[in-house]
Amino acid sequence: MVAYTARAHTNIALLKYWGKADQKLIIPTTSSVSLTLNEFYTDTTVEFLDDLTIDEIYLDGVLLTPANSKKVQHLLDLVRKMADLTTFARITSFNHVPTSAGLASSASAFAALAGAASKAAGLNLSPTELSRLARQGSGSASRSIYGGFAIWERGHDDLSSYARPIDETVNWPIQLLTVIINDQPKKINSSNGMQNVVATDPFYQNWVTHANMQVNPMLKAISDHDLATVGAIAEANALQMHAQNMMASPAFTYLTDESWQIINLVQSLRNEGIVAYVTMDAGPNVKIISKPTDTTIITEAIRAAIPAATITVATPGPGLHITKGLIIND
Ligand code: PMV
Repeated sequence: MVAYTARAHTNIALLKYWGKADQKLIIPTTSSVSLTLNEFYTDTTVEFLDDLTIDEIYLDGVLLTPANSKKVQHLLDLVRKMADLTTFARITSFNHVPTSAGLASSASAFAALAGAASKAAGLNLSPTELSRLARQGSGSASRSIYGGFAIWERGHDDLSSYARPIDETVNWPIQLLTVIINDQPKKINSSNGMQNVVATDPFYQNWVTHANMQVNPMLKAISDHDLATVGAIAEANALQMHAQNMMASPAFTYLTDESWQIINLVQSLRNEGIVAYVTMDAGPNVKIISKPTDTTIITEAIRAAIPAATITVATPGPGLHITKGLIIND
């Protein structure tokens, strides 16, 4: 069968997905809103081949063991079922998400896999169907089908839980300054972290109610191109999500002293009139929602506080792109 290659970009949630209502289908408890980033992406080629006896999965040139690629195989099984196929596949994937960037690569990885695998299997899925498929690899991947701002509507079952675009070509000044203070793999992965919170945090239902109430104000702020309100809601949502982790049993946190140093520094910059807000995911690194014209002032302040931090500017990026043929790894 013909090989297809797909490129998908990472996204960062401005309103977080932090908990599943259905663990098997990956239906979230809240709707989430994200911005897809231009700088970081995954290229994945999929080819279904008659002579294979198992799925052969290469990530950045390294062959993964079956035990290390269960989520990939699960997504391929879903594709095979849809296409009525029994053939195994060769998957070649390259992550252009620097491991040191501290950015989740699962969003771009599973969006690219959904795109390339479905096409290679002879399917012609709509963006909504691709989003539902990617969701079943990694929840946040449902949003990486689209460029710019996207919302993953939580829905209540497989058919109703998918992302849709809000504003795919962002033509107003917004960027995420990513501040990498630690590039070590996280100790508690997002799945285990969020599941611990859902199961043990006595305040979790309050968080769900509140987070879902942040959706409409966030959509309005995006449509108004109102950076300060987008940032303020995103920062509150992120800090509230991280607060849930400390209310779980056992309590845990992804944030370190250095994360708090950056969070406090951004608050001080704000007091000086700079429009800058933070968001953090399942790790200690901080992303600063800001304007391109403030890059120098924010960067200098961070370098003065934490000289070892790596700072990358990330701007809005495009949605999933699928092409016929093998990977071109540039
Ligand atoms: O898609 P996952 O299972 O990697 O979970 C993502 C969780 C967060 O990054 C913390 C939030 C989000 O909505 O992306």
